[in-house]
Parts: sequence; C-alpha cells; structure tokens
Amino acid sequence: MPITRHPPPAHAPGSTIGHLPHPRRASVPPLSKITCIEDLRLVAARRVPRMFYDYADSGSYTEGTYRANEADFQAIKLRQRVAVNMEGRSTRTTMVGQDVAMPVAIAPTGLTGMQHADGEILGAKAAKAFGIPFTLSTMSICSIEDIAEHTGRHPFWFQVYVMRDRDFIERLIDRAKAANCSALQLTLDLQILGQRHKDIKNGLSAPPRPSLANLIDLATKPRWCWGMLGTPRRSFGNIVGHAKDVGDLSSLSAWTAEQFDPRLHWGDVEWIKKRWGGKLILKGIMDAEDARLAVNSGADALIVSNHGGRQLDGAPSSIAALPGIAAAAGKAIEVWMDGGIRSGQDVLKARALGAQGTLIGRSFLYGLGAFGQAGVTRALEIIHKELDITMAFCGLTDINRVDASILLPGTYPT
Ligand SMILES: Cc1cc2nc3c(=O)[nH]c(=O)nc-3n(C[C@H](O)[C@H](O)[C@H](O)COP(=O)(O)O)c2cc1C
Repeated sequence: MPITRHPPPAHAPGSTIGHLPHPRRASVPPLSKITCIEDLRLVAARRVPRMFYDYADSGSYTEGTYRANEADFQAIKLRQRVAVNMEGRSTRTTMVGQDVAMPVAIAPTGLTGMQHADGEILGAKAAKAFGIPFTLSTMSICSIEDIAEHTGRHPFWFQVYVMRDRDFIERLIDRAKAANCSALQLTLDLQILGQRHKDIKNGLSAPPRPSLANLIDLATKPRWCWGMLGTPRRSFGNIVGHAKDVGDLSSLSAWTAEQFDPRLHWGDVEWIKKRWGGKLILKGIMDAEDARLAVNSGADALIVSNHGGRQLDGAPSSIAALPGIAAAAGKAIEVWMDGGIRSGQDVLKARALGAQGTLIGRSFLYGLGAFGQAGVTRALEIIHKELDITMAFCGLTDINRVDASILLPGTYPT
C-alpha cells in the first residue's frame, strides 16, 4: 500500500466534504438536503448529547487507526470505463446465504439507544425495510426481545461478547435463538477495552449523570430529551434483570469492567458454535494466521475489523488488511470487512478487494442520531446510490461481477 501518512479524517474542521454549514451556526436542514454521510454526521453532532456523540466519533489513544480506516479508502482509485451498457443494474447479493439488497449490514454498536431513543428498534426497522441485515449488540439499550417484538419477529443478527459469567452467555444465546436471530457474530477483539480519552473525560454513562455540565449540554438537545422521556429503555436491556447481581446502574458499570473475559480463546469458539448451532460469524480478524484459525473453527464468515479503530491503535486499517486475509482464508469461509465505510464507493472498493459483505457502524449511528429511523433509511439510500452509480461508471452492472480489475493498479493494497 503506497499510503503511509494519514491526513485528518474528512470531517476534520475546515473539511469541504460535508456541504452543510457548520452545525452550530445554522438550522438543521431538511432530510431532502442531506446528500452524504458527512451531512448526517454534522446534524448528529448537533442533536446528540456530547458524551454519546463523542462515544461514536472516536478511536483509541491517538486515533491513528480510526483515521486510517477512512483515509486508506480514499487513496484507492477506480478505473473509469465508458460506452458500456449501464441498464439493468443490480446490487443484490448474499451474506452467509441470506439475500441482501446490497452487500452491507448494520454493525453491532453498543449504547445505540442513547444516540436516539429506541435507537436499536429504529435501526432494525430501517434495515428490514431496506432489505439488509441488522446486528444487535450485547451492549444495546433495547433488548433482544424488544427488537423481535417491534419487527414482527423478522430475523436479525445478534452479536455476543464472551464474559466470565458463562451461564449468562448461554442464556443470551438461547434468547437470541428464541427471538428468531438468523446469525450470531462473536466479537473476538474485545477481551479488554481499548482506551478512548473522550469517554473518560466526558464521564460516559447510560443514562447520563445529572452533573452541571451534562444538564447544560442536555438543555441544548431538546429533541433527544423529549425522545428519552417517552421511552422506558434507558439502560442495558440485554443485561439488567438478566445477569446475576445486576439490578441497578451503579453495579452495572462495575459488572461490565470485571465481566469481559480476558481468557477468551479458540476453544471457546467451539463451545459457542455448538451452543448456537446456526450461522456463526467471527468478528475482529486482522491477521492472516488468525484467519486460518477462523477457517479451522468451522465458522461461516469472518469480519476483517479493528473495531472501528477503537481497540488496538496502531493496527493497520481494515481495508489495508483485507487482501492478505482474503488470500489466507481462501474459499472455505466468507470474508467480510468493516471500518471506515462512509460511502457506497467504499463498499465497492471492499468488494473489489475480496469482501463478500461489509458492515457499517458510524454511518448508521450518524443517520440515527440525526433523524432517527428516517436518518438510517437516508444513510442506506445514500450508500446504495453511491454504490450503484459508481459500479456503473466502472463499467459493471452486477455487484457479483466486481473484482480488483475495477481498481487502478498501484493504488490499492495487495
Ligand atoms: C459507538 C460504537 C460502539 C460499538 N460497539 C460495538 C459492540 O458493542 N460490539 C461490537 O462487536 N462492535 C462494536 N463496535 C464496532 C462496530 O461493530 C464496527 O466494527 C465498527 O463500527 C466499524 O467501523 P465504522 O464505524 O468506521 O463503520 C462499535 C463501534 C462504535 C462506533
């Protein structure tokens, strides 16, 4: 990969990528004027309380890997082709055998119901209507049962963290089965927590503590407050009332810190696979050796992911790691990726470099924080349109025919 320096992300102050005026200086534009993910980010920055916006828009330590996830996509150039029949285009494909309207799923994100009231329910509804999978995090605000109830038991995916309390994990997996989840993502890159400076400085908690700084901030976020007053879902819905000795919030934070299991190993993958019995996806693979172990585990898919730059700062970007991992994994397992996807062009580039599917974290969260369910739908529409149009400009009409030949040699990682 020729890129070694990473400029600030596109949304750094002074960026011209977002075309809306600075959020604090202008009123929020209508949805019809939202034309890119950066526009959604700017509105979310204005509407979501500071600690939750920062929780989403941050990476660990220097945020170098977080920035590289986006910047490395931008360095890859596409080959423009002309005079090719562009009619009858299709972005439809499959992820672990499931039909998807485009090779994009919503990634699991913790505390999503704090970006917007009932955020996970709204995200799941938008994904269902669009025809792509939604993944619910273990650390969600809305519970597994909430999602099943509010989507008419439409299948969704569940993401599990392995914790020391194995009984709790087994019950969680059983609850996901009972709720009609059609795939389980096992996250392997969070045995211990990467440090994000902003979360410590902001005193991140769910719900926010009534400190003076928080109350002043909340006073400028009336929509958010109004939404929160209208929902009973303000804490970790999968955990409170389900895990032993977690009845209130103060014990929950202590429980979380001590419960993520630092001893997680490949033997545990076997245990989870057996208990689950359905499609299993391993999330957080960044190394060719681990990709081979993932193949040996018998999982159905692996996700090349550095947790959106939130865990090991200094790890390569996901898109830089993708080709090596795809080569190591071969055809025995589906290879997906996430990290830094802010446009349909990024999805196309990931697909060209060997990802059968992709996941979006922040692109989803910004849409949700900005406009709720309508914002998520807008984010998906934007990404879909960018994917469709760019594929056509590259001379292809079927996403299933995309490969590295659409990329300019010398500009992409190998
Ligand atoms: C706010 C936030 C919370 C996250 N929470 C989780 C989580 O609970 N479980 C998990 O496996 N990954 C979690 N992730 C990582 C995402 O699933 C995904 O790997 C990452 O967001 C992809 O990068 P992107 O945000 O640049 O698209 C989280 C990411 C963000 C931004």
